[in-house]
Amino acid sequence: MNAQALLEQLYDTPESELIAQIKQLRADLGDQVLILGHHYQREEVFAFADITGDSLKLSQKAAETDAPNIIFCGVHFMAETADILTAPHQVVLLPDLAAGCSMADMADDEQVNRCWRELSEVINPDECVTPVTYINSTAALKSFCGEHGGIVCTSGNARKILEWSWAQREKILFFPDQHLGENTAVTMGIPDDQMIIWDPALPMGGNSRDAIEHARLILWKGFCSVHQLFKTEHADTMRRNHDGIEILAHPECSRAVCETADFVGSTEMIIKHVAEAPAGSKFAIATELNLVNRLRLQFPDKPIWFLSPMVCMCSTMFRTDPQHLYAALLSIRDGNITHQIIVPDNQKRLAKLALERMLSLA
Ligand code: 13P
Ligand code: SF4
Repeated sequence: MNAQALLEQLYDTPESELIAQIKQLRADLGDQVLILGHHYQREEVFAFADITGDSLKLSQKAAETDAPNIIFCGVHFMAETADILTAPHQVVLLPDLAAGCSMADMADDEQVNRCWRELSEVINPDECVTPVTYINSTAALKSFCGEHGGIVCTSGNARKILEWSWAQREKILFFPDQHLGENTAVTMGIPDDQMIIWDPALPMGGNSRDAIEHARLILWKGFCSVHQLFKTEHADTMRRNHDGIEILAHPECSRAVCETADFVGSTEMIIKHVAEAPAGSKFAIATELNLVNRLRLQFPDKPIWFLSPMVCMCSTMFRTDPQHLYAALLSIRDGNITHQIIVPDNQKRLAKLALERMLSLA
């Protein structure tokens, strides 16, 4: 049966039956498979993860495991990262190959290489710019960073990575998320006049030669379509309606939202913050809906609200459903892997170098 026909059959299977089949097959495969699950996964899938975490923790776990098959319940760049960090005999599967990340798509190899060429008309980037890519990026961009003395960062270690990067060279080119770079730099006291935005659609990113010469941080004009939906007005409303409420935000939110927030951190840091707070603490959280809903269930003694009145859900994270997870497990059982992520060898070595630089600091 081809993959599409199998999925159609699985969608006709009652959910309770399907969940029972996943449990059985997962148990049968034992240590032949490791399931990694990002915090934004829907509950029915998240429940099957052997290890859950933010991008940093999951990349560390991928680097440590010797499981022959790794099913990554997350998005494409996460599975690519796992493939880069694992040994050649280990297989990484992404249950739905269409589970991408719109932010990662906002910077491609060609655009970043053009940026580097344009910068070299004004400065010598290989001498004075450390390229830093957010882990939410293609393997090609991680490889670019490896080649040019750069590094990868996540939302959980961005400050440490920027410190390292400025210790190497006087300027940083940060892509693809403007907000993570900007929010981190603001907390490090970098003044506004030392940051410029690079718009890949414009010549020289839309900057003058003078601005490039004086910048310490060049921020790629990229963003997360989910986190951009949170606004400061939402925080104002929450504070008006709930005395003593704490606003927690992911650093992919805008600078204004992060500046008004009481706490800013990666998904893992947000979970830890809520877990460690005393009973009765109230939170409004600016990150993806599946995680916030899970926190609500996990901590019924701590009232939790979603910061936005709109539904801010990562539609690509949501693509991974029990049907796709079961199909991935079946493909391992049958020795007929259908959703493997393979980073080309010519990108792997340098991408690994950039990731290992990060992991040695993280
Ligand atoms: P974390 O690394 O904080 O889990 O974030 C990943 C992500 O894609 C957030 O949008
Ligand atoms: Fe990408 Fe945003 Fe989804 Fe995270 S939440 S995977 S950054 S689109």
